[in-house]
Amino acid sequence: MVISTGKNDNGLKLYDPGYLNTAPVISRISYIDGDAGILRYRGFPIEELAEKSTFTEVSYLIMYGNLPSESQLAAWEFNISQHSAVPQGVLDIIQAMPHDAHPMGMLVNAMSALSVYHPDANPALKGLDIYNSKQVRDKQIARIIGKITTIAAAINLRLAGRPPVLPSNELSYTENFLYMLDSFGNRSYKPNPRLTRALDIIFILHAEHEMNCSTSAVRHLSSSGVDVYTAVAGAIGALYGPLHGGANEAVLKMLSEIGTVENIPAFIEGVKARKRKLSGFGHRVYKNYDPRAKVLRKLTEEVFSIVGRDPLIEIAVALEKIALSDEYFIKRKLYPNVDFYSGLIYRAMGFQPEFFTILFAIPRMAGYLAHWRESLDDPDTKIMRPQQVYVGEWLRHYTPINQRTVSGNTDKLGQLAVSNASKRRLAGSGA
Ligand code: SDX
Repeated sequence: MVISTGKNDNGLKLYDPGYLNTAPVISRISYIDGDAGILRYRGFPIEELAEKSTFTEVSYLIMYGNLPSESQLAAWEFNISQHSAVPQGVLDIIQAMPHDAHPMGMLVNAMSALSVYHPDANPALKGLDIYNSKQVRDKQIARIIGKITTIAAAINLRLAGRPPVLPSNELSYTENFLYMLDSFGNRSYKPNPRLTRALDIIFILHAEHEMNCSTSAVRHLSSSGVDVYTAVAGAIGALYGPLHGGANEAVLKMLSEIGTVENIPAFIEGVKARKRKLSGFGHRVYKNYDPRAKVLRKLTEEVFSIVGRDPLIEIAVALEKIALSDEYFIKRKLYPNVDFYSGLIYRAMGFQPEFFTILFAIPRMAGYLAHWRESLDDPDTKIMRPQQVYVGEWLRHYTPINQRTVSGNTDKLGQLAVSNASKRRLAGSGA
């Protein structure tokens, strides 16, 4: 729909930082009602899927639009499992990374490296038409969903100075992930079934969330015709940010920094004085309790009943109670989001904070790929090239350098560069 003043103009230009009120796509994948705290994948409420479904079944639903039949689910899971092996070169890249590199930085590299190992799926080499083929699309979808757990496990093992473990084709998707992490290669190892189920539910909750920052990045990059691996690597880069997927890691650091329930009032005052954010609180869309946080809140008790209670949960519960009764947060409609409790569960399961966002990235591959697939079939899809509101210099003409003074550059870096360059020149011969 274009609001225009006449047949020849491009329509109304809106200044809309962060795209708060801009919908660049029409989608059928997930629906959020932020005021009511509703999230549905293809019309199914997230609470029902978390209770009754599995991550592989939900990823099929998100991808293809309907819950699979038994045979469709079996074929989907077999296909994903068949693509869980990762090229040795990608594993070598992970091994070559510093042992203390941030896991998300390693994941961006690994996903980008996958692109060069799949030239058959690269429009820059094979032409834009290759993605018209359902078979080519489905193969990349199965490859990425199958390989992301193997890559994530290899990254986690790299941090511990251990070599990667090959995936097992005998185990379910989430079971296989925990097997690669904890088996030390012992093929008879079986992960704890209750912890496996808890992680599978967490994967369901994180699988898709309409046009969040990283999913819109997939759409943005793939609109240029770039291969899907590179587009997903860009999304992983966006998810890496502490305001987005990195918030679960920031929540743990925040709770550890607060340290005791007695320190909460002083911390809250710091937040209200805008000295820092309350990580795990607030959301661009949810102006009510994030429905995923409600499920995660219950799941913490299940996980703690298996691995022991994390004392930080008392701080989290007290912090939530105080924040939800404080006018500053009520007025701004700041509620706990998906990241507020997930970090506590991950820590209880033995993951280090730097790895938490990887656990967000694994299931979100389903959402990224569903949006990529949807954009390929959308006749409205065109290369994303937003407008700007220009407020810079209007028109100036070139002046020889010996007639210039040190200019009042608009950016601080520019001023520093000018002053250092002029010092060097003045100190040089014939200055
Ligand atoms: C995810 O988009 C998605 O769907 C993302 C996600 C997904 O599944 O993909 O749901 C996952 O990213 C969840 C969000 C994780 N991030 C965090 O928990 C980081 C902390 N939260 C904030 O930084 C913030 O709430 C955002 C970034 C999530 C949303 O910010 P908005 O929508 O741009 O809101 P805003 O910054 O304009 O805030 C409105 C007001 C401001 O106060 P005023 O200037 O009006 O006085 O609320 C304040 C903000 O300062 N505010 C906060 C706050 N979040 C907003 N104040 C303190 N702590 C916070 N966390």
